Amino acid sequence: MLRDRLNRPLRDLRLSVTDRCNLRCTYCMPAEVFGPDHAFLPRGELLSFEELERLARLFVDLGVRKLRLTGGEPLLRRDLPDLVARLARLPGAEDIAMTTNGLLLPRLAADLKAAGLKRVTVSLDSLDPQVFGQMNGLNVHPDRVLDGIDAALRAGLGVKVNTVVQRGVNDAGLRALWLTLRERATVRFIEFMDVGNHNGWNLDAVVPSREVLARLAGDGREEGNRAEFQAAAPTHRGEVAARYTDGAGHEVGLISSVTAPFCGDCTRARLSAVGVLYTCLFAATGTDLRAPLRAEATDEELRRLVADVWQGRRDRYSEERGEVTGRQKVEMSHIGG
Ligand code: GTP
Ligand code: 5AD
Ligand code: SF4
Ligand code: SF4
Repeated sequence: MLRDRLNRPLRDLRLSVTDRCNLRCTYCMPAEVFGPDHAFLPRGELLSFEELERLARLFVDLGVRKLRLTGGEPLLRRDLPDLVARLARLPGAEDIAMTTNGLLLPRLAADLKAAGLKRVTVSLDSLDPQVFGQMNGLNVHPDRVLDGIDAALRAGLGVKVNTVVQRGVNDAGLRALWLTLRERATVRFIEFMDVGNHNGWNLDAVVPSREVLARLAGDGREEGNRAEFQAAAPTHRGEVAARYTDGAGHEVGLISSVTAPFCGDCTRARLSAVGVLYTCLFAATGTDLRAPLRAEATDEELRRLVADVWQGRRDRYSEERGEVTGRQKVEMSHIGG
């Protein structure tokens, strides 16, 4: 089995299918930077479905078992269910998931499920219209995301919710969000991370996960009883979220890339929409797979290239965060988190 320099296998492939998004979350694609004049990638630059399918197959040959579609916003890619159907047919691709903002799920959830998608992770940062409207940069109402979540559930897709926590921005509403959603989905609270180069990250804006858990538990005075959380075992090795249950069977996930980095178990490769392979969310550079792909490289040559990159990998950015400063990083909208 393929192992990197820190002995980590290659298990997951995150495929970005577009750099566009119909939101402008302040921590990902701030409207000041990604404004009306921003040049998104022209269509011909994107990997075609044939190219994506071929690369996914080669990654599966090398040990990948889980595929995740990301963006930007993956549902903006035209005919996405056709891509899902191609990927679902790959023997060895055991899990096919997608990370989405949910806005287009009412239209697409049933087709995605029929095509073979197993689950979606929907990003939703607050149920407060004002707070969410500000965070998503376009004043989009949280009800539209809730409609997307409900559409996914009706279609029979597994659903998780991702909530990025920023101090002084949405941290007051975490318990309300969890109480509302916990019957429908596993909510995962994510420590605000220093991805990309434009989100104005600083440590003061990070709410450590242990504080998030204390807030979810409540102090017994507010609506909903005080919850007692217990740590639960990970569902698989390398799971990014630490899981907790509240005794009544509700689950919560905490993704603590800042206070408890999980690089030691990182089995994820990321492919940008133009076919650049990144071995870390915080990488500065990647390896172009599109050029050889379009120059008619053989399967064996492409597998060799990917294997060499993986075997040379020693990324552990979240563990080194304090030591690395001022370096350019790939944008979140290119590799989808
Ligand atoms: P499942 O556990 O399979 O449901 O998916 P996931 O948690 O791997 O995927 P998702 O896209 O929902 O990621 C959740 C959050 O964790 C996002 O904010 C990601 O950016 C972050 N994340 C995922 N993988 C990594 C990683 O390798 N490193 C870091 N630092 N953050 C990650
Ligand atoms: N910090 C933490 N999470 C982020 N995401 C996007 N930008 C950041 C950031 N700066 C999350 C999105 C989505 C997932 C792929 O990554 O909310 O759920
Ligand atoms: Fe779009 Fe997701 Fe980035 Fe928000 S976090 S701007 S929804 S890609
Ligand atoms: Fe993996 Fe890089 Fe995230 Fe560490 S920081 S878990 S190496 S993607």
